[in-house]
Amino acid sequence: MKQTLPQELHRSLTADVPFISPKFFYDDIGSHLFDVITLLEEYYPTRTEQWIMDANRAAIAKAVGDCDVLLDLGAGNCAKASQLFNSIKPKQYRALDISKEYLEAAVADLQKQFPYIAMRAEAIDLSLPLAFPDIAERRKIFFFPGSSIGNYDPEKADQFFANLAQECHGNGGLLIGVDLVKDHETLNLAYNDPLGVTAAFNLNILLNVNRITGSHFNLHDWEHYAFFNESQSRIEMHLRARSDVTVSLPGDGTKERAIAFKAGDLIHTENSYKYTEDGFTEKLRRAGFGNLQTWTDPKKHFLVCFANANK
Ligand code: AVJ
Repeated sequence: MKQTLPQELHRSLTADVPFISPKFFYDDIGSHLFDVITLLEEYYPTRTEQWIMDANRAAIAKAVGDCDVLLDLGAGNCAKASQLFNSIKPKQYRALDISKEYLEAAVADLQKQFPYIAMRAEAIDLSLPLAFPDIAERRKIFFFPGSSIGNYDPEKADQFFANLAQECHGNGGLLIGVDLVKDHETLNLAYNDPLGVTAAFNLNILLNVNRITGSHFNLHDWEHYAFFNESQSRIEMHLRARSDVTVSLPGDGTKERAIAFKAGDLIHTENSYKYTEDGFTEKLRRAGFGNLQTWTDPKKHFLVCFANANK
């Protein structure tokens, strides 16, 4: 069902279990706060993935093989993909992300550095099915780094992988980074950094919601709450009401309504699933990929995987 962003937020905030999709984190401030998160000592995923990529650049390129088109899913500033250009040597680069302006600027910059790679920026919502009919015949490599897959519920991830496997048409594959299950202290600290950057990142979603819907969330009324849910194998992030609060939410063209929260009530803002290597590779196989190759760091905190569509 096609709905506008204000409609989507209206629904999710008034659901039995109120939630805000994590895609709303990434406004201008949120994108910058996330960049700061990746610099934090406690936030190991970005640094660890980078280490794995650096340490295995040649082996990864060999596993990937010929690349007609590199499809960068959730490209952001395109920095991670651009580091692959010299080893993977894609003929074409397609950067896909939700924010068009940011992406176009990044791709324009990159095009100057790599004039011989045909580049294109495409604004898309990754939560919707993907199709690339114009490059059906080309050998495509999908790139999905940073454990972005962690935001998808496991069943949604299965569908997403099946969609990608199908779009490969028996050729090409998926190069993906995923965060692994580990000791709870390390996991909890990565989402509860003492500087409070993750808390600011979480709270900032309310500023974006205010902007999009015209709601009046007051940030002083809410606090960051994140923990590892072991039975679901995921970090959950929530915003918790510090006291009883009522938030006004303009109706879309109709009547304004108010949502009442009690002290301690939660708004769920993110799930970040953590996988075991076996669980994750099994998922890729079930979706139709095969001939998997994996790379990890000495502490086994993070996993990079290339999954072939041509088994
Ligand atoms: C961008 C979804 C991979 O889940 O670790 C970082 C987002 N949230 N700190 C993650 C995030 C809080 C991040 N992903």
